[in-house]
Amino acid sequence: MADKRVYLETMGCQMNVLDSELVLGQLCAIGYEPTDDIRQADLVLLNTCSVREHAEEKVYSRLGEVGQARRKRPRMIVGVIGCMAERDPEMISQRAPYVRLICGPGNLNELPELIREVQETGELAVALEHDNSRKLPKHARTLEHDNIESLDLSRTVVPGGSVLQSFIRVQRGCDKFCSYCVVPYTRGPERSRPPANIVAEARRLADFGAREITLLGQTVNSYSCTENGHIVRLSDLLSRVNEVSGIERVRFVTSYPGDFTDDIFHAMRDLPKVCEYLHLPAQSGSNTVLQRMKRDYTVEQYIELIDRAREIVPGISLAGDFIVGFSGETDAEHTATLELVRRVRYKSLFMFKYSERPGTIAERRLPDDVPVEIKARRHAELTEVQKGISLAHHRAMIGRTVEVLVEGYSKAALKAQLAEQGEVAPIRWHRPDQLVGRTRGDEIVVFSGPASLIGRLVNVRVAEATWLTLHAELPAGDVRPLVSRAAM
Ligand code: SAH
Ligand code: SF4
Ligand code: F3S
Repeated sequence: MADKRVYLETMGCQMNVLDSELVLGQLCAIGYEPTDDIRQADLVLLNTCSVREHAEEKVYSRLGEVGQARRKRPRMIVGVIGCMAERDPEMISQRAPYVRLICGPGNLNELPELIREVQETGELAVALEHDNSRKLPKHARTLEHDNIESLDLSRTVVPGGSVLQSFIRVQRGCDKFCSYCVVPYTRGPERSRPPANIVAEARRLADFGAREITLLGQTVNSYSCTENGHIVRLSDLLSRVNEVSGIERVRFVTSYPGDFTDDIFHAMRDLPKVCEYLHLPAQSGSNTVLQRMKRDYTVEQYIELIDRAREIVPGISLAGDFIVGFSGETDAEHTATLELVRRVRYKSLFMFKYSERPGTIAERRLPDDVPVEIKARRHAELTEVQKGISLAHHRAMIGRTVEVLVEGYSKAALKAQLAEQGEVAPIRWHRPDQLVGRTRGDEIVVFSGPASLIGRLVNVRVAEATWLTLHAELPAGDVRPLVSRAAM
């Protein structure tokens, strides 16, 4: 039995999910064993998110609970890693003085060293990126020779971890500085990873059993890396990952509407493994709000882009993000958002109430002046509109046969989906013997079938629909898994 146990809790986006996986791999390599029981842990790490105030409050409340557990186990080392560690280290050590380790997302490769330091000195150990790398000229910011690249390169598969659907980072940071957003301050400047490293990672994951790869970046469509004097763009990268045998599906998130070029649509249309799914946050349907948000596109340009996506990639399924109640948002501006949502007809939406973040442009220049009740009302209105659209989108699929990558039993996946949507809705279709998976368009499908299908692609027929899920059936008397599209 390992003599060191680590409890790691993850909040925030897919980048954090990936970072946690890499951190766990790193810790297992130095003799730690993961545990789900905080009371048994020698090391407790919270991987945190700063994107909304609520996310940070959740961390402080968890830290309070961890502090309680530590009283009964004084040698427990408590650490805060991730975006909040980078954003506000002083506040963390002030509000939770027993925290001994603070590490930002750009320094996670240094964790083993920091742990050793804490064990030796008993003092707080800190590693942060700050803004130093932003002072470099843009062309000099490269991950190729950056120490943090070692974190992704050292990727291993943690015992008990699932690799079926895996994330690969293709970019770090963000250069957009949308006025409301904290991410450029917590994740540093935009840098793209060398394509050879990404493809090697995809191959390794495929060997371990990965079937679906999602390429991650804050503005993934602006991926650009120089290799032997040539620029490799996202569409080139997609075509290289498409070649990796064993991988059946490739996705990429999140795209920024301002830099979207048609070569990516062509890749989606022409490359068999690249799924017809696009997550393209609009944030608002009003040009005046988009200007205040410093999003450098107009609603008309966004609509044109969506129309082009539908024209080039038949059957493409769209997801988006919207913020309601941003500074100065009027009823008319909110109505424009509802109109855009009705016009685009997304498969699903992520909807957020504006939360002012310290240090952002909006915090310095624009008042957070939409009352909380109005934010809540607008959020509810947008949710209602989207529920109707999602239901219609799902109902239109009844009777169709769809390809599903089977993820497992239904409960956990549905819960995760609900949490993503910020919803707690009754799960009509949840039964313990039901399997869940996703279509190429990212629709969630629930159906009865044998456990032997988990991890495989199957064809199922959609029988019924709710706004969140499709309910399907395996074709009678035929439970043979579908042959991989790529192998056909
Ligand atoms: N890079 C991605 C998403 C980053 S954060 C992109 O640009 O699309 C994920 C989502 O959180 C954003 O799309 C936005 O909708 C939301 N968000 C970011 N900052 C926020 C804030 N201060 N208040 C409320 N929602 C916010
Ligand atoms: Fe934030 Fe905008 Fe960058 Fe997305 S593109 S991470 S919203 S600053
Ligand atoms: Fe949160 Fe950082 Fe992701 S702020 S949304 S964990 S990039």
